[in-house]
Amino acid sequence: MSSYRAAVCTELTGPDSIQIQTREARPLASGEVRIAVKAAGLNFPDLLMTQGKYQFRPDPPFIPGLEAAGEVLEVASDVQSVKPGDRVMAGGKGGALAEQWIVGDSAVSPLPAALSFAEGACWQTAASTAWHALVERGHLQPGETILILGASGGVGMAAVKMAKHIGATVIGTGSNEEKLEAIHHAGADHLIDSADQNLATKVKALTDGKGVNVVYDPVGGDLALTATRAIAWNGRYLIVGFASGTIPAFPANHIMIKTYSVIGVRAGEGPRRDPELAIRQRAALRDLADKGIMRPHISHRFSLTDAAQSLGVLERREAIGRVVVEMTTSS
Ligand SMILES: NC(=O)c1ccc[n+]([C@@H]2O[C@H](COP(=O)([O-])OP(=O)(O)OC[C@H]3O[C@@H](n4cnc5c(N)ncnc54)[C@H](OP(=O)(O)O)[C@@H]3O)[C@@H](O)[C@H]2O)c1
Repeated sequence: MSSYRAAVCTELTGPDSIQIQTREARPLASGEVRIAVKAAGLNFPDLLMTQGKYQFRPDPPFIPGLEAAGEVLEVASDVQSVKPGDRVMAGGKGGALAEQWIVGDSAVSPLPAALSFAEGACWQTAASTAWHALVERGHLQPGETILILGASGGVGMAAVKMAKHIGATVIGTGSNEEKLEAIHHAGADHLIDSADQNLATKVKALTDGKGVNVVYDPVGGDLALTATRAIAWNGRYLIVGFASGTIPAFPANHIMIKTYSVIGVRAGEGPRRDPELAIRQRAALRDLADKGIMRPHISHRFSLTDAAQSLGVLERREAIGRVVVEMTTSS
């Protein structure tokens, strides 16, 4: 059994507690697949987990990382879906920031030919969140308008690309020129600085005074309350996350007066609770991946030894699109 290197969170004090440690590989249990990780994609929850602030709160020491791409090294004797040598992507509740990752076979899918290992490592979480929010929960239609907050982030940029694929007009917010440029490059039709005091007025001006049909919000905080002033009559407000660190309280009277719906989005839990939705979501995402739609933009690439620095990029709000940790074998 071989040993491998892993980025280990040793205390819930943030990225600085990450240490690179050598682990001994364990034998596979029934239904498990061992992957030689080539690249791991970072997500905001990875940062929150190192701070003990995420809804799923593992005790240290633990290996962060929710998604990766690589090659299958070994499968348990009862696994039929993949075989050693297959190029795959995988998702789980942690463990991807390592040279080897053991996951259940249902968490593994073939790496689409259109995606590199680094792109595949960044694809699943952001793409499934954008698809689940816009299609399944938001019912976004061609010709509608959507305001995407935090549009330079992982789930934000995937939503920009998905909304354009659907045929909507996209207004994206970002906090600096470089981010706004990237959001424009991703396909957004209109850009607004997230700190703009006239954000709601500008959205109204872009929508003939009506406001947007849909708001996609992975940010929360004060920006969320501003965005409710930019929503149309009968609009849909999609609650995706709280990257700002502040959970907004929506005034019920405002929701009634403007008759908009506030809709929760849980891209992972939804399909876990509804097997038919799981089949629908998997098929839709496979088709989108094969077509290269929502191909991730990667702003930062790190080696495993620099895993702490990679999480620091998310912490300092420097990422545009995605941050990837790429493995080079230690021996
Ligand atoms: N509901 C679901 O199923 C689901 C699935 C995946 C992720 N999420 C959630 O979605 C949120 C975004 O995740 P992500 O992976 O896209 O994160 P990300 O790549 O770091 O993007 C977050 C974006 O939010 C904006 N932002 C505003 N205030 C911020 C702050 N104080 N700190 C950091 N960013 C801030 C940033 O853009 P600007 O600098 O331009 O403002 C940034 O681009 C997280 O809360 C995550 O937990 C939810």
